[in-house]
Amino acid sequence: MPARGRTVLVVGATGRLGVAIAKALAARGDRPLLAARDPEKLASIARSIAEGGDGARVPFVHADLTDPGAVDTLMRGIRDAGPRVDDVVLACGPFPRTPFATLRRDDLVHTLTVHAIAPLLLAHALAEDLTLAKGSVVALSDAGVTRPFTNHVAYLTAKGALQTGLRALAVELAPEVRVNVIALGIVADPEADDDPLRTHRLATRSPLGRFGTPEEVVHATLSLLDATWSTGEIWGIGR
Ligand SMILES: NC(=O)c1ccc[n+]([C@@H]2O[C@H](COP(=O)([O-])OP(=O)(O)OC[C@H]3O[C@@H](n4cnc5c(N)ncnc54)[C@H](OP(=O)(O)O)[C@@H]3O)[C@@H](O)[C@H]2O)c1
Repeated sequence: MPARGRTVLVVGATGRLGVAIAKALAARGDRPLLAARDPEKLASIARSIAEGGDGARVPFVHADLTDPGAVDTLMRGIRDAGPRVDDVVLACGPFPRTPFATLRRDDLVHTLTVHAIAPLLLAHALAEDLTLAKGSVVALSDAGVTRPFTNHVAYLTAKGALQTGLRALAVELAPEVRVNVIALGIVADPEADDDPLRTHRLATRSPLGRFGTPEEVVHATLSLLDATWSTGEIWGIGR
């Protein structure tokens, strides 16, 4: 089990899963470094983590990952924040509905950029930090990559690219850095409000008969961060 007190960059730290992961990291004695797009949301989450802990300031960096300069912007912010990054959690990106009949090139470019291209370039930019720290990268992907659902070709394509890219990275950065993926079933379904029966229908498709909780995703994420004999793995949960 690695010693605590590691600086963990959480990308997507304002999302429902990213917030839970950042809070759990702080609670166990690691130092989350928050990243997302919206600086106001980030500032508010950073304050609430600091208030719930020892009061120490929680640093954050922000950029829109669709911006071609996003990785440079994040890296400047990370260097200004001070500490070297020891580990990375990738929990970013939207879940765009892209009906096949109206699928556009922009849908694919946008979604691939946020979910795959920018995260891979960020890991590339942090490779030296991660190597020095014998670090770990854990990314949240989607069970739909291997069991696709409708209306999300762009998203599923992007998550598939992320998974393949990270498995390649696991080989490139071995043995110092470990890179693993969690392929999640559903925690929250953004379309549930439009169709109340949908939740029941989707949940009962899973052998466990229900959606997951952020706490269960936190548990899997921390476990993989600490799994010193795993790399290039894709751990399916809640499928
Ligand atoms: N929730 C689920 O049921 C589920 C299931 C399978 C997989 N996943 C995956 O798990 C991860 C986290 O999911 P979630 O439900 O926590 O997502 P979420 O609540 O929608 O949060 C998404 C996060 O990504 C950031 N983000 C979105 N677009 C961005 C952009 N262009 N540039 C920079 N940051 C951007 C958001 O930042 P801002 O707030 O600053 O915009 C936010 O921090 C995602 O990768 C998702 O695909 C989730």
